[in-house]
Amino acid sequence: MVAAIEVHDLVKRYDDFEAVRGIDIEVRRGEVFGLLGPNGAGKTTTVEILEGYRERTSGEVSVLGYDPSLREIGLRRKIGIVLQSSGIYSHLTARETLRHWSSFYPSPRDVDEVLALMGLEEKADVLTRKLSGGQLRRLDFALALIGDPELIFLDEPTTGFDPQARHAAWQTVRSLRELGKTILLTTHYLDEAQALADRVAIVKDGRILAIGPPRELGVGSAHYRVIFRDASGELVERETDDPTSLLHELTSEALARGERLEELSVGRPTLEDLYLELTADEQSGDAQSNDAQDAPISRSTADV
Ligand SMILES: Nc1ncnc2c1ncn2[C@@H]1O[C@H](COP(=O)(O)OP(=O)(O)O)[C@@H](O)[C@H]1O
Ligand SMILES: [Mg+2]
Repeated sequence: MVAAIEVHDLVKRYDDFEAVRGIDIEVRRGEVFGLLGPNGAGKTTTVEILEGYRERTSGEVSVLGYDPSLREIGLRRKIGIVLQSSGIYSHLTARETLRHWSSFYPSPRDVDEVLALMGLEEKADVLTRKLSGGQLRRLDFALALIGDPELIFLDEPTTGFDPQARHAAWQTVRSLRELGKTILLTTHYLDEAQALADRVAIVKDGRILAIGPPRELGVGSAHYRVIFRDASGELVERETDDPTSLLHELTSEALARGERLEELSVGRPTLEDLYLELTADEQSGDAQSNDAQDAPISRSTADV
């Protein structure tokens, strides 16, 4: 069967700034695919091109067999969207908002069922302007599901959620996957990508740096990491594509000096290492506004 999404050499330029620089992606039907990367990587740009909200500069794009830039109604009825910033009407209640959106779809899901799915039953009749940030985000999520779409785009779906709402959203994504839906999600949370995505593409500066199942991503890297403690007790880390030569060099030098390389190990980076590496400049630069909740790494919750 043809893939749900096919992207070849996608480029997006804003004036003379190239935000997306030749991306290739293939998302299979029924797959949860994650675009993982720091702020400014080009995730929203890519997703909004696939949704038909932004024009691409060049490249080939097919979404459920459609070219999204043509904005055909046939495609819009088959996709569900959670935008990064919501455009919810403040003078309607959550239920009214969902009812309104459901009218655009030929066979929408039941409004109360979707409210319950997102834990919004108690807030159903509250004006959306009185909802908290997390509740609004859940309403965004509910809007994406109301049309019972085949393909769902989730742009940073849990940013601003408290841990409970976050896990509820993860459960929702998993149940959608079990229903056979295809999901493209973006996130800057490593644990979210690990917990949800069948395959992940790590993006930075408009390029895909690595792509594959989360567990295999780091392992598939051409880089090896050689670690040992030198004679002064200092931990030394060396990266190489050719561990055989590097080990030969290091061990012969050590033997010639009559030393041992204590705690010597050869490993391959994990997804976590890869991701840390690519977010490193962001965190050492001036963008140190991330609070603890925003930290991308949490190994302990990765397998929840
Ligand atoms: N409408 C726009 N005009 C000019 N530059 C933009 C616009 N939208 C995004 N950018 C820039 O493109 C880059 C990628 O942005 P974006 O796709 O929002 O990244 P992400 O979603 O990964 O944070 C950023 O450098 C951003 O500043
Ligand atoms: Mg974004």
